[in-house]
Amino acid sequence: MHGVSRQNSLIRTQKTFDHSYQRQMDKFHFLCTMLPCLILLFLHLLCPANAALNNIATVPFGKGFSPLWGEPNIKRSADDKTVQLHLNQNTGSGFKSSDLYSHGFFSAKMKLPSDYTAGIVVAFYTTNGDVFKRTHDELDFEFLGNIRGKAWRFQTNMYGNGSTSRGREERYYLWFDPSREFHRYSILWTTKKIIFYIDDVPIREIIRNQEMGADYPSKPMALYATIWDASDWATSGGRYRTNYKYAPFIAEFTDLALHGCAADPLEEIFSSSCIEQDDQLDSASYASISPQQRMAMKNFRHKHMYYSYCYDTLRYSVPPPECLIDPSEKLRFKETGRLKFEGRHRHRRSKRSRSQDIGARNYGNEDED
Ligand SMILES: *[C@@H]1O[C@H](CO)[C@@H](O)[C@H](O)[C@H]1NC(C)=O
Repeated sequence: MHGVSRQNSLIRTQKTFDHSYQRQMDKFHFLCTMLPCLILLFLHLLCPANAALNNIATVPFGKGFSPLWGEPNIKRSADDKTVQLHLNQNTGSGFKSSDLYSHGFFSAKMKLPSDYTAGIVVAFYTTNGDVFKRTHDELDFEFLGNIRGKAWRFQTNMYGNGSTSRGREERYYLWFDPSREFHRYSILWTTKKIIFYIDDVPIREIIRNQEMGADYPSKPMALYATIWDASDWATSGGRYRTNYKYAPFIAEFTDLALHGCAADPLEEIFSSSCIEQDDQLDSASYASISPQQRMAMKNFRHKHMYYSYCYDTLRYSVPPPECLIDPSEKLRFKETGRLKFEGRHRHRRSKRSRSQDIGARNYGNEDED
């Protein structure tokens, strides 16, 4: 009896031990899986994610902007904080900042047209093409129309001093439906770097270096927003065209921000009046990327970038000087700069050959489905 009960009690002890060991292990396991979150939380408390982006100074439409074209299709709200750009059978529309800026932080909350938007492009960009026809600078966000149920795609690009023969496109999928809610899209352009933001996530950073020369935008630019019919190339290389049964297509902009030194583009090149404000821009919170944001950027680029000119060796046998080639990332891309495997996206080779592509804007689009 004693023997049995002693054995039972031993088993019980063993079981209790097992249980408490298991509990410890569970805790340990829990901690291990939670650790990255805890670290993120810690970093978050340490350096709040660009609180400034949620709380930046904005400007009413009439104070900072003027119509560009398609004026009847530009609809301003009563408080002038929000403006809609419509596209219908007659015309698209666009607006631009009334001033050009020596450098700047250009930002807006945007909501894109919903439902069937194939063939439509909404662009949010800075340029000085009106002033410098052959030597213009440009920084772009371009949202590429979509067929219902597919993830929205967009691209970013940069030109400097008329470098239109050297496109610097990156293409990505959005991780949310941009037609459901407002999201903030921003372009930071300082003397040292360029950062494209979506909400608080820096999605692309270009650090200026000497070898880039005049390919780095350096003359004052204005901010533009447009909606237009790009049926010929926007969606799957033109296979899906704009269908005006769904018109008007509406892109909505609100809480517009223009931070920077307003400058006369022709005088500014020789003047020093913007040096102080350009310096301020460099030290603004949105000009530095926190460790947590850098992680988010890496994550975004890993999951959502499907074309990069930096990996397009057919186009650039030597990557342009600002490219930071990540060997593990490079492995994921073909010599066309497109991803090797795109899980959920099927492919069919387009009938159009590369040489038939019009201008630089079609790169990365060729085997779109
Ligand atoms: C910009 O381009 C023009 C025309 O090609 C050229 O003359 C000029 O030197 C370039 N500017 C710089 C800073 O390289």
